[in-house]
Amino acid sequence: MDSGSLTVLVEAALGRSWGRDSSWHGEEHWRCVAATGLALAENLPSADRELVLCFGLLHDTRREHEWSDPEHGLRAERFANELQDEGLLALGDRRFALLATALRLHADGHVADDETTGACWDADRLHLPRVGIDPDPARLSTKVARGPVPLAAAAALRSAGAPGWTAHVTRVCSTTSAP
Ligand SMILES: [Fe+2]
Ligand SMILES: [Fe+2]
Repeated sequence: MDSGSLTVLVEAALGRSWGRDSSWHGEEHWRCVAATGLALAENLPSADRELVLCFGLLHDTRREHEWSDPEHGLRAERFANELQDEGLLALGDRRFALLATALRLHADGHVADDETTGACWDADRLHLPRVGIDPDPARLSTKVARGPVPLAAAAALRSAGAPGWTAHVTRVCSTTSAP
């Protein structure tokens, strides 16, 4: 997807998201997860940066409330399906399937072998301290997410505020040749 298509996707997803203003699971968190995922992906040669951006954008857009909401990953996958059906999420079947699985299972405690899913899930988990949870190192999929440095970087990002979506789109489009 080019930068214009990604910008249209971001606007559509934000406009139809649930809980955008939530301090725990809202847009600020989505931008943090996108930023951390992209930072991890820069050290993961096979990670698909565009999918990492889409994961950050969509993964918590279908929460019904702030507490345990075990179906929110499945609802996020369904939202992604809607966006695909409308032509707004044009990734191709293989890449869409990877994103859909990452969305559906992101809160189920799994680890991933592939670097794209690993970057997505690890980015979300590195921001668990915002809700008072220390990430379990055994639940981090990638080596680059382990240790004190990535956790400190995530904390610094939350303190400073994550970049906006335009910066994320520019970052992806300046570094990605989509696989
Ligand atoms: Fe989530
Ligand atoms: Fe999240």
